[in-house]
Amino acid sequence: MEMIDVLAICGSVREGSLNRALLHAAQDLADDPFRVEVWDDHSLIPRVDGTRGRPFPEAVGALRDRVSVADVLLLVTPEFNRSIPGVLKDIVDWLAILAPPRPLAGKPVMLMSASPNRFGGVFAQLHLADALRRVGAEVLTDFDVAVGFAHRHIDDGGILVGEEPRRDIAQLWRRVLPLVGEGKRAVPA
Ligand code: FNR
Repeated sequence: MEMIDVLAICGSVREGSLNRALLHAAQDLADDPFRVEVWDDHSLIPRVDGTRGRPFPEAVGALRDRVSVADVLLLVTPEFNRSIPGVLKDIVDWLAILAPPRPLAGKPVMLMSASPNRFGGVFAQLHLADALRRVGAEVLTDFDVAVGFAHRHIDDGGILVGEEPRRDIAQLWRRVLPLVGEGKRAVPA
């Protein structure tokens, strides 16, 4: 089967982030044909200021191009006040601007989240899915991987060791495969 190119973005820039640990576990647990590349240039992305369209700031243009060619976008988000952090909202808003190549139009997107509280960031996923669907993304998963009490599942080295979340992630890759595998891939508009 042809390789499935997944671009993964974490919504946290915090050192010791629970969500970055989750993202790396998702990367490690992705078997063939998935190939997960982590995008980590948050510091290069300016705030969205309402100046829409081209020319995009260089790093924004590069990110838009990279997302456009990815088969799947994986967003791993913290929850801040029952929504997503500003850093991730800026990224989504830059990607959502309706100028060619329209990176989110028809784009299959997977969502995951981690939080120290019991709900694991489901409210953030709800907001994120809503914003993504508004601009025509195809949200494949929500709430499938929302790791509650995440600090108990992640060791001091930032490794997700919890058996249950690891099993949920592996299951999610298996569930997504037929949705994005050969012949079923969404074609961006
Ligand atoms: C939080 N946190 C939080 N957690 C949650 O489950 N629901 C929430 O509404 C909030 N709200 C919130 C607001 C603000 C301003 C902060 C700083 C934090 C806790 C949050 O989930 C926790 O700090 C995570 O560890 C953040 O994710 P990373 O950075 O560890 O990936």
